[in-house]
Amino acid sequence: MKNIVLIGFMGVGKGSVAREIIKISDYMAVDTDDLIESMENKKIKKIFEDEGEKYFRKLEKKVALWLEDSVKNTIISTGGGFYKVENLKNIGKIVLLDSPFEKILERIKNHPNAKKKLAKRPLLQDLKKAKELYDIRRPEYLSVADIVIDVSEKNLQKIAKEILKKVK
Ligand code: S3P
Repeated sequence: MKNIVLIGFMGVGKGSVAREIIKISDYMAVDTDDLIESMENKKIKKIFEDEGEKYFRKLEKKVALWLEDSVKNTIISTGGGFYKVENLKNIGKIVLLDSPFEKILERIKNHPNAKKKLAKRPLLQDLKKAKELYDIRRPEYLSVADIVIDVSEKNLQKIAKEILKKVK
């Protein structure tokens, strides 16, 4: 089984989809933000505050190299900017979870932990800037993806099944 790398904008549901996939398959799951938080023993928000975004991107590169060398049979959920690492394509099949910006905001706002979901994401604090980032990134996501899944009108079970079918 080749790794599956879930990419896409903040809040699109990469972690939730990964957790759904492992329920119905033999994949293991890891999350790049979780790996970084455990490497640093700090929350992402605090890493951005203390060391800045540049430092965070360096950590993403380190994680990417480790994933390429050491991880298999795994579904990897990634931070929204992880798709920029140079060796992305060597890590596994790249699956984009695609959704309009407005639907992503709706998803976050409807979450029982909405406040926390927003607060932990430094690049979602200013929604105007976040939309600009979305508009820059969306074509880039599309260009690196092997598989694109429109997640805007589907539940997690459906998305998970669709991904497993398409990566075969
Ligand atoms: C980021 C997305 C975040 C996290 C960091 C930067 C980004 O992950 O990696 O705050 O650049 O889009 P999520 O996509 O899980 O929110």
